Amino acid sequence: MSKYILGIETSCDDTSIALVSEDGNILSERTRSQYQLLNQYGGVYPEFASRAHVVNIIPAIDSVISSADLNIEEDIAAIAVTRGPGLIGSLIIGVNTALTLGKLWKKEVIGVNHLRGHLKSAELEGARIEYPALVLLVSGGHTFLTIIDPAGDVTLLGQTRDDSLGEAYDKVGRMLNLEFPAGPKIDKLALQGNASIKFPTPLINKGYEFSFSGLKSSVSRYLSTSEQENILAQDVSASFVHSVLTVLESKLRSAIKKNKGLASLVVVGGVAASKQIRDLSKDIADDYGLKLNLPPLKWATDNGAMIALAGWDYLKKDKIIPPNPIARIPIYEY
Ligand code: KG4
Ligand code: ZN
Repeated sequence: MSKYILGIETSCDDTSIALVSEDGNILSERTRSQYQLLNQYGGVYPEFASRAHVVNIIPAIDSVISSADLNIEEDIAAIAVTRGPGLIGSLIIGVNTALTLGKLWKKEVIGVNHLRGHLKSAELEGARIEYPALVLLVSGGHTFLTIIDPAGDVTLLGQTRDDSLGEAYDKVGRMLNLEFPAGPKIDKLALQGNASIKFPTPLINKGYEFSFSGLKSSVSRYLSTSEQENILAQDVSASFVHSVLTVLESKLRSAIKKNKGLASLVVVGGVAASKQIRDLSKDIADDYGLKLNLPPLKWATDNGAMIALAGWDYLKKDKIIPPNPIARIPIYEY
């Protein structure tokens, strides 16, 4: 039987556990989301997120192990757990559980950078990234553009100065009374609407930094100054998404033109589940003859499988990082 790493992800609001082989196949997986709870408050509340992880984590691990039909002693190679970045209370629950299991099962526990987990999500279910790669990470907590070379070294081209892209989707969704997380709902509405409202395209043609807080405020101003009966959520969503795509497209194309020799375009993070962003990425990759790596839809948002696959990478590179929970870590660290 092949060996598996048990991946544990609790950096934010999802408790997610998975067993993953070295080539990225998922043997078994459980994700418990806290959306119902979060909807009562309109977003993630760290204290509630921590409490929900306490309730969810052991049943999720139990269920993953019992449905996998494996021999823990022989078939589990190690335990990989998100050590950060994330909400510290949530991270502590994942890490403490991982350390306890490690002691009990006599397995190595590897602390994984959540952002490197997202990068690996594009290799789940067998795909392979070719390097050097232009990597756009767009999630609820982060937004940045990097180049990763064949040795795994990371050059940061630019990041957001304020809101992450997922945060902008969620905040605009809240203005439109959509449930949290609003990204998928905005996408759906946008597909039914017209991009008829002119929202700004912040920092377009200004290097590789992003800024989404002004775009969000501009949507808010539009909503508060328009007659209620004239507001069409579909058109607001389509116009917001249009601005987002215009900004992403300009920065991706410019980065590809200025950095010769790229092998692939990689777009990861929860917002990489957006159909519009996936379609745009495909068009851009095709135009420049780059290989495109997107996470399979199921693995775009936070999950334990990407952490387990990153764990294999750490193991191969002999990066056995102690899983000390830490709220912030840049992508270039392990
Ligand atoms: O990567 P992720 O699960 O968590 C963080 O690491 O932050 O990303 C969550 C974010 C949320 O803001 C959510 O609204 C957004 O990803 N998201 C989407 C879609 N699915 C999730 N945004 C746009 N379109 C989607 N289909
Ligand atoms: Zn994430």
